[in-house]
Amino acid sequence: MKFNKRTHTCGQLRESNIGEHVVLNGWVANRRDLGGVIFIELRDRYGITQVVFEPSYNSEAHEHAKKLRSEFVISIEGKVRKRPVGTENPDLSTGQIDVMVDKLLILNQADTPPFPIDDNVEASEDIRLKYRYLDLRRGEVQKNLLLRHRMYQITRKYFDSNGFVEIETPVLMKSTPEGARDFLVPSRLHKGKFYALPQSPQQYKQLLMVSGFDRYFQIVKCFRDEDLRADRQPEFTQIDVEMSFVDVEDIFEVMEGLMKIFFKEISDYDLQLPIPRLSFDEAMEKYGSDKPDLRFSLEMVTLNDVFDKSEFRVFKDSIEQDGIITGLLAKGCGDYTRNQLDVLTDFVKKLGAGGLIWMRVKENELDAPIAKFLSDEEKKNLVKKLNAEPGDLLFILTGKKLKTLSVMGALRLEMARRMNLIDPDSNPSLLWVTDFPLFEWDGETKRYYAMHHPFTSPRIEDIPLMESDPGKVKARAYDLVLNGNEIAGGSIRIHDSKLQGLMFKALGIGEEEAKEKFGFLMNAFKYGAPPHGGIAFGFDRLVMLFAGKSSIRDVIAFPKTSSGLSLMDDSPSLVDEAQLTELHIRIR
Ligand code: AMO
Repeated sequence: MKFNKRTHTCGQLRESNIGEHVVLNGWVANRRDLGGVIFIELRDRYGITQVVFEPSYNSEAHEHAKKLRSEFVISIEGKVRKRPVGTENPDLSTGQIDVMVDKLLILNQADTPPFPIDDNVEASEDIRLKYRYLDLRRGEVQKNLLLRHRMYQITRKYFDSNGFVEIETPVLMKSTPEGARDFLVPSRLHKGKFYALPQSPQQYKQLLMVSGFDRYFQIVKCFRDEDLRADRQPEFTQIDVEMSFVDVEDIFEVMEGLMKIFFKEISDYDLQLPIPRLSFDEAMEKYGSDKPDLRFSLEMVTLNDVFDKSEFRVFKDSIEQDGIITGLLAKGCGDYTRNQLDVLTDFVKKLGAGGLIWMRVKENELDAPIAKFLSDEEKKNLVKKLNAEPGDLLFILTGKKLKTLSVMGALRLEMARRMNLIDPDSNPSLLWVTDFPLFEWDGETKRYYAMHHPFTSPRIEDIPLMESDPGKVKARAYDLVLNGNEIAGGSIRIHDSKLQGLMFKALGIGEEEAKEKFGFLMNAFKYGAPPHGGIAFGFDRLVMLFAGKSSIRDVIAFPKTSSGLSLMDDSPSLVDEAQLTELHIRIR
């Protein structure tokens, strides 16, 4: 079908175009038939223009227009006119004009869409994902992808102008444990063998450092078979970075520069540098999280010294077992009812706490079931330490250190929500969390795991502890946190094979296993590995936060559901028996 090329987009015409003969192409967003005159809102990704079919202006076009329905694809030719007084639409950038049509070409018809293509119409997310190509016609969703596009461009420009080289790394690689489960790809040519999809290009970028590309970056897909949440997808995108001959400070400087540009160009906000830092220990103790949201100042307080001689069994046990007693003050919440407190108790219990100790602060007493177990001295010190006043409510949790702190951290967020402490218009809160523990103890398997990954360097001064007291070793690892979201993580790497050996030993990875799993990297390190380190941004999370959204699905063109399904193409799906046979696979 021959049709004239558009002269303008649907978001382009203004009063200055009045009188011009134009051609527009687009989708029928809306059709109204008013007393014989047909009004069509014509949409493309640039906007909406009203086009008018009037029998007295052009009866043939008008007759033809009677066939138009939602989402038909059309091409029109006509004349731009000023809209009659009183019919202007200030909500549209083209709202002062419309186009009187003298030629209509229907380029394609459309079935009635399963939901109206309109930002104001609510459709369930499942339906939107099933028909994602239609959902993507909506301005709101397009806006997110256009933002994402801009953020790719800013990223590329920034790294290029700072001497970084963009290098692609393989998508089919060796399965190497990195925290999550691998997605595996069976090999047809090598029976019984599998590739893995990269959880990140971690080892490749380290190899590139060995090769001498001392400043690498890549915008790259990563794949992790893990439980999904609003901020997690099985395939997601990282801005991946690695640098040689650097220390933590150099990496921070580069990444802070990128954040500053993002904030300036996208939000017109002048980010003050340097970004503040907090050690993991402090973050846990004060905020109960390794990604604390510091847009509000509610802080937890460790109360071990208040209760170090307590006769109250719960506190006494906790202190004896090297646990923690942590408190949180909810200002002005002393009027919480028993019912409200039960709800909060359930909240912490669901997270694994044994219970929640609460106390209403009164003029000269603490109103609480446990008050009778505390001495006057303890009560006085407690009130003083938490800066509590009559009318306040205070919470105490006690138990194993990290677990208890993180439950209190969750309660801190919950109370902030209930007390309306988070101002949506507040300045962004960015911070580096540093000095993570190198190892994490897993009570179930009774062994240490690398908290970041096995190539992360310990703090030099802690190396002697790796054998004697691994739990105390801190890593040269860091995360970047924005408004309580972990947006990036990285570390200085081990580049010395002796230290790497020590690391594997602490992780219970034997020499054979290390050779089998990481042999290629270990080998490479024998040939002159420079000191190096890096970081990776969760790009989807970053775009989500700049777009003001709460799910990364909103900023991904074709996302999976929270159970890993692609509702649109119905994957994962069964495959032909023949395909399986070719891959030497039998389904049990
Ligand atoms: P890490 O595992 O911390 O580090 O990942 C870096 C960042 O990626 C984002 N992220 C995710 N985003 C969406 N869905 C997921 N499933 C998901 N998992 C992680 C987070 C996180 O901060 N190779 C190292 C980096 C390095 O050491 O240089 C790595 O991948 O925002």
